[in-house]
Amino acid sequence: MKLVKTVAEMQELGRLWRAEGKKVGLVPTMGYLHEGHLTLAKEAVANNDLTVMSVFVNPIQFGANEDLDVYPRDLAGDIAKAESVGVDYVFAPEARDMYPKGFAASINLTGVTETLCGQSRPGHFQGVCVVITKLFNLVQPANAYFGQKDGQQLAVLKKLAKDFNMPVKINGVPIVREADGLAKSSRNVYLDEECRRQALVLSQSLAVAKRLYDGGERDAEVIKAAVRAHIETAPLADIEYIEIVDALTMQPVARPEQQVMLALAVRFKTTRLIDNILLGEEV
Ligand code: PAJ
Repeated sequence: MKLVKTVAEMQELGRLWRAEGKKVGLVPTMGYLHEGHLTLAKEAVANNDLTVMSVFVNPIQFGANEDLDVYPRDLAGDIAKAESVGVDYVFAPEARDMYPKGFAASINLTGVTETLCGQSRPGHFQGVCVVITKLFNLVQPANAYFGQKDGQQLAVLKKLAKDFNMPVKINGVPIVREADGLAKSSRNVYLDEECRRQALVLSQSLAVAKRLYDGGERDAEVIKAAVRAHIETAPLADIEYIEIVDALTMQPVARPEQQVMLALAVRFKTTRLIDNILLGEEV
């Protein structure tokens, strides 16, 4: 496994691989790797000639009052974990190399970024679109891998690649969970014991929704109310949103016909957790 630390070196490798006709898989991450990230990496390793994992805490996707300064980091641990699943290159650039003085680009996708986390985290998806576009231009991957854990991010990046005719396939990978159901996240380390226990209501509430949906319920308000009622059994849960949206456009749906995503964001003290479930068949 090789560590690539500069943008220039990454660009040179990307160019070389393209010239050699190598099929490259890219797994973008912000590091502090867990089994969710490693599942994406395994998928990339299995389906490409070589795999690049980026480890970069992207400052421009964090809001002013968010956790950029305290975001957990462990590059040495990440390198060891990436190597253990067969990743060939870890790209870990410095922020000033990615965003030199005078950097001026921004990317704004309408619609798909305007609901859910896009509402509560203004500028977040612009930052994600910029960093992913830069990574695609540097690495020139045939395949890129993203988790359904961040379901809106996956939809946004599919739209980004489509609207800009980017020559890369966006692959979605199912949510990896802890044994008790909590979706794995680098941010779970922020949870104290009590919050960690109460956070179980999230995955449980998604199971409530699925049971209703599978039983034929199609009124989004009824499903959302049942989810809300279950989450509210946890006294520390502070609900930011519970929404049912079209799986591609991320727009609210009143009566699910095609595949929808039930998505939620809930705060436990200072920690904001997201989770979601897809309901219905992919179209
Ligand atoms: P990060 O939160 O590190 O996540 C990197 C990738 O791992 C994302 O595609 C995310 O959806 C996926 N992932 C995280 N937890 C997962 C889980 N429990 N199951 C399955 N996949 C999971 O998302 C980002 O970083 C950044 O926004 C990034 C795309 C790297 C741009 O900066």
